Amino acid sequence: MSNSTSKKKERFTSSGFILAAIGSAVGLGNMWKFPYITGKHGGAAFFLLFIVCLLLVGLPILLAEMTIGRGGRGSASSSFYNLSGNKFWGFLGFLSVLTPFLIMSYYAVVAGWTLHYAVQSFGGALNGQGIDFKQQFVDFAASGMPVVWQAVVMVICGGVIAKGVSGGIEKFNKILIPGFLIILIVLMVRSVSLPGAAAGIEFFLKPDFAKLDAESALVALGHAFFSLSLGMGIMITYGSYVEKQQSLGKATFAIGLGDLIYAFIAGLIIFPTVFSYGLEPGEGVGLAFMALPAAFAQMPFGWLFGGMFFLLLAIAALTSAVSILEVPVAYAMQKWQWSRKKAAVIISTVCFVLGVPAALSVTGVLNSFQPGGKTIFDWFDFSTSYVLMPICGMVVTLFTGYAWKRAGEEAGLKGFGYKLWMVLLRFVSPVLILLIFLYSVGIISV
Ligand code: PFF
Repeated sequence: MSNSTSKKKERFTSSGFILAAIGSAVGLGNMWKFPYITGKHGGAAFFLLFIVCLLLVGLPILLAEMTIGRGGRGSASSSFYNLSGNKFWGFLGFLSVLTPFLIMSYYAVVAGWTLHYAVQSFGGALNGQGIDFKQQFVDFAASGMPVVWQAVVMVICGGVIAKGVSGGIEKFNKILIPGFLIILIVLMVRSVSLPGAAAGIEFFLKPDFAKLDAESALVALGHAFFSLSLGMGIMITYGSYVEKQQSLGKATFAIGLGDLIYAFIAGLIIFPTVFSYGLEPGEGVGLAFMALPAAFAQMPFGWLFGGMFFLLLAIAALTSAVSILEVPVAYAMQKWQWSRKKAAVIISTVCFVLGVPAALSVTGVLNSFQPGGKTIFDWFDFSTSYVLMPICGMVVTLFTGYAWKRAGEEAGLKGFGYKLWMVLLRFVSPVLILLIFLYSVGIISV
């Protein structure tokens, strides 16, 4: 066993753990990706498919990650070693530390954008007639401001993490996640009562089973995986702070349900708003920083609703960013025996420095540097979301399904539940993860 049967006894409370895990799961994926892919791939029909994917792949792997963390009581890397005594698994586990480290570097940039837009909106700067929001985003991203906001994000996340698991991460989520739900509901009520909102609700939810095809299945699978923050070492690390008496099975369902509810409400905000103002629905940057600001600019009290919307995005991004930064911090604390504060400061600084070129590559000075046709920002995204995350997910599945014999005991599963979990982890998840991987890197097309 490694040195990681550590002296640290940092633990979440039971509800704190569930809120922190929901905080991690509910991120920009819920807010700006899920609604769009649902609308595009058949509304309520896709929603049902997504639930099936959560059940078949998402929840079993979520349970596996938390189980590895609690059983191994180490970092996302050493937990594998602690449980198997095998250095090779420890090395594979290290990928679950490298991946979040890279994700944090560019995710902080995006989180910074959301903070900037929240401040701008509350200040009334987005509320004029005839603003070209596309140009405005391009100019903003080309300026030095994103780096300043990225630094703000790193200071917030590093500060929360430096305060520890229960005093920092848990408190942060306990305040923000319920606050988040209140803002979501206020915005949803505003949005569905706009004139012409029904067309948006119809686009989001009208079931169209004819639109379901192999591509929708892969999109739903990939999103089920991403949305639960899998393949990033997060749930392994958070799992290592869970008390033995907590039921991981119940936590798995609570986290899955929480993730689904937040995503669903996000859809009920976005589409009625966009359709009501006759704008094109889209996803990602175009939706959040171009289409929606244009809608808020025309809405009565748009500065307020727009500000609340960007605040919502910022909270979603920050609670996810905290969870991802904790992974390399926990690793450094354990591997090099650093104090939590030292690890938080050093890792945040390194992530910041690594992320600066990504921030400047979107439309800024480094935009013309595009090796292989991708900006630095896009390379960070591609290498992590499409390559490293599926590999990390595969490592978790194979480890729990084949290598670690006592997983069922740690997960609290027996009989049929255990058998089902094993069938899913051994046979179903690996095949599906492989398909997602081959599809997202472009090796297979459907
Ligand atoms: N579950 C998150 C989402 O849906 O946005 C995924 C995530 C991304 C978590 C980036 C953490 C993170 F830093």
